[in-house]
Amino acid sequence: MVVEKLASRDVTVGILGLGYVGTTLAAVLLKNGFKVVGCDINKSIVETLKHGCCHIKEKNLDHIFNKYKIDVTTDVDLTVRNSDIVIVTVQTPWFSSGPDLSYVINACKTISKNLSKRKLIIIESTLPIGTMRNVVLKILKSSGLNLGEFYLAYVPERILPGNALYEIEHNSRIIGVADEESGIVTKKFYSTFVKGKLYLTSFEIAEMVKLVENTYRYVNIALSNEIAILCKKLGLNSKEVIELANTHPRVNLLNPGPGVGGECLPKDTRFLLKVFEEMGIESKIIKASIMINESMPEYIAELIINSVPKGKISILGLAYKGNVADIRNSPSLKVIRKIKDHYNIYVHDPYIKINCNGIKVSDNLEEVLKDSNAIVILTDHDIYRYIDLNKISKLMKNKIIIDTRNIINKKLAESYGFKVLSV
Ligand SMILES: NC(=O)c1ccc[n+]([C@@H]2O[C@H](COP(=O)([O-])OP(=O)(O)OC[C@H]3O[C@@H](n4cnc5c(N)ncnc54)[C@H](O)[C@@H]3O)[C@@H](O)[C@H]2O)c1
Repeated sequence: MVVEKLASRDVTVGILGLGYVGTTLAAVLLKNGFKVVGCDINKSIVETLKHGCCHIKEKNLDHIFNKYKIDVTTDVDLTVRNSDIVIVTVQTPWFSSGPDLSYVINACKTISKNLSKRKLIIIESTLPIGTMRNVVLKILKSSGLNLGEFYLAYVPERILPGNALYEIEHNSRIIGVADEESGIVTKKFYSTFVKGKLYLTSFEIAEMVKLVENTYRYVNIALSNEIAILCKKLGLNSKEVIELANTHPRVNLLNPGPGVGGECLPKDTRFLLKVFEEMGIESKIIKASIMINESMPEYIAELIINSVPKGKISILGLAYKGNVADIRNSPSLKVIRKIKDHYNIYVHDPYIKINCNGIKVSDNLEEVLKDSNAIVILTDHDIYRYIDLNKISKLMKNKIIIDTRNIINKKLAESYGFKVLSV
């Protein structure tokens, strides 16, 4: 039985989906002594990992894959058959019509085909409310086995890209189950590598909690964006306003910026909005937040066009957030699209080596800044926070910085002759 083998780590964990979540989780489980089989239907991911390289950039990840051996395969059936615990970390994208559950459904169908008694199935992918009971459990039961014969839990992932390995081990986790046995087994499993608290609840509460967490952050950013726009009109430094407001013990405003990107926040907010709509309730606050956050790239584009003369312009940062290599839904892409007919655009991003979406990305900062009319900081990579303002002031044609992330020391920049416009 799984639970008795956990202490000695005599357990094989199969992970279905080696994207950001699955790969980082695999690394943590390897480090904690588990036998891990990583499975992805994408051959190139599997080949990359087979050759000892990693397709995901994350602090300490390469080091773990160098030190511990992961078995990787594209064979989903075999992975399920050979694993005591199967964790599903496939994507759950948002389409304009609603959530796309096809990847979860396909993974569950394969699990169902290969399900045997006492296997623990865990879903970590983000799900709309009701999916565990009405979709996942139903598919697994079509195997002929019933809950009690196998174990099932929903444990939504909560990691922050850029600090994922630490957070997998230290965050508290919500465990949604429909029977007591699954709760006991799943809690025991996570307690072997999670130092945070483990909270047991129902499928539906766990599903709702995951969506509420990210919607809270999304709405919070929308408020910060509006505050920043107002501060700009009033001639106040929004960074100082937000920092000082946050000294209140019960205030925690997030940073304003050029929009909200990434895979999770915009998507999870829409998942929750869809539930409101299905229940016949209008969520005015979510709708307004989407409008505000979605309008930020346009706001930034207008700021650029109104303040920077035509010619060369330098965009710093293509990733959707600092110190990661992820461009999914990145506001940078949206801003670039809106200003591309006005400027000769040069883009720098140290994390993104390839040219994406037809945009040429360089890692040579000097080349990107030389004879430029302005710097537009769109991503808060640390390297931009500590940029040598003195040195770059000598490279540029016009000394304008548009700092959409509020990371530049304005006074210092002004002392080198820069005009700094921030959000
Ligand atoms: N990226 C994050 O920071 C983050 C954080 C918390 C939660 N989540 C959620 O976790 C889930 C996964 O996110 P991600 O960013 O890792 O996605 P991803 O798109 O990077 O990775 C998913 C992987 O699953 C693979 N896959 C699809 N179907 C498969 C199958 N049947 N068998 C094996 N592999 C299969 C895909 O090829 C892909 O490589 C999503 O629901 C996401 O919302 C993501």
